[in-house]
Amino acid sequence: MTDGYRVGVVGATGAVGSTILEVLAERSLPVREVVPFSSERSAGTRVPFAGGEVECRPLSGESIQGLDIVLSSAGGAVSAEWAPRLVEAGAVVVDNTSFWRMHEEVPLVIPEVNPDDAAGHRGIVANPNCTTMQTVVALAPIWREAGIERLVASTYQSVSGTGRNAVEELNAQSKAVLDGDAPHAEVYPHPIAFNVLPQVETFKDGDDYTTEERKVMAETRKILGAGEELRISATCARVPVIAGHSVSANVQTRDPLSPEQCRELLAAAPGIVVMDDPAQGIYPLPTAAAGRDEVLVGRIRRDPSQENTLNLWIVGDNLRKGAATNAVQVAELLHERGLVGVPEGAAAPAA
Ligand SMILES: NC(=O)c1ccc[n+]([C@@H]2O[C@H](COP(=O)([O-])OP(=O)(O)OC[C@H]3O[C@@H](n4cnc5c(N)ncnc54)[C@H](OP(=O)(O)O)[C@@H]3O)[C@@H](O)[C@H]2O)c1
Repeated sequence: MTDGYRVGVVGATGAVGSTILEVLAERSLPVREVVPFSSERSAGTRVPFAGGEVECRPLSGESIQGLDIVLSSAGGAVSAEWAPRLVEAGAVVVDNTSFWRMHEEVPLVIPEVNPDDAAGHRGIVANPNCTTMQTVVALAPIWREAGIERLVASTYQSVSGTGRNAVEELNAQSKAVLDGDAPHAEVYPHPIAFNVLPQVETFKDGDDYTTEERKVMAETRKILGAGEELRISATCARVPVIAGHSVSANVQTRDPLSPEQCRELLAAAPGIVVMDDPAQGIYPLPTAAAGRDEVLVGRIRRDPSQENTLNLWIVGDNLRKGAATNAVQVAELLHERGLVGVPEGAAAPAA
């Protein structure tokens, strides 16, 4: 038994980190103390937690001592450097960045989908990409019941997925356009206000898919335990929405699955709410998903152009289930299974 964990939150002033603090206060992980970390820039900033405030400190050899669990969301470079140091200092790290997700010694876990993978951790457990997270929560029951041969995912991603600077940029650009001024773009390569950008993250090393699209394809396979036989193609777009990502998923199953069977299957699965009465205007919306932990699924219908294929519309709150809630659920899973701490004799995964 524990009298509660000493929990570090790295990136506590950010979009994900501040949501982690909210979710930690709402849920039942036993927490003795929360220790928020930011960069030197925001050190000393007081952030809200459980009706009070806690003060951010910078990461240092000294400040990371004595932590049991660390929930980290301060970008890949910070996680590359600090996750192994935190593990060495005795903490188990649940990491929200993309840096560790595809590392073969790091499990990539959604508690509703592949909880058993957490058992193999060597100090770091990765949290999936937000778009991948909500897509896989919705697809896992279909994968288990009818098999999936091919997925075509088209995404409509909100600006909070990029962080707090992007939210400020959308607000400022919207105001500028409404005032008749030219919008100024810094976070994205083009103005996002009143626009749709067919680019989420970057085109790396001449690849014609973006890094976000590559994440959706690779992480989906890793979480489901699938190989290249699961064919996936993703197109990720950024839309001028503050919170909540939407995904249009075209899913070809191995075995026949009717829309009615799919609705029943998803309605019975954990973490999913089926909202599917389109004639009454009932379907998932980002405004309905914002602030919720469940993934919303609707517009479930046959693809008339291909056998054994369904179309689904999947919406989730990228900051909650897409990041913070899943990270806290992973911490709860580690707690319930006695997996908090670094396994004896295990060296932290090397970057
Ligand atoms: N936004 C999403 O929906 C989402 C979903 C899943 C995963 N993620 C991942 O989560 C990470 C954070 O995303 P975000 O959207 O929360 O970004 P954000 O709003 O820009 O916040 C970044 C946070 O990192 C902190 N930070 C920056 N450099 C640091 C350093 N050297 N040491 C300690 N803290 C440092 C910042 O502190 P300061 O206040 O000091 O600058 C801030 O708290 C990214 O890797 C992102 O890919 C984001």
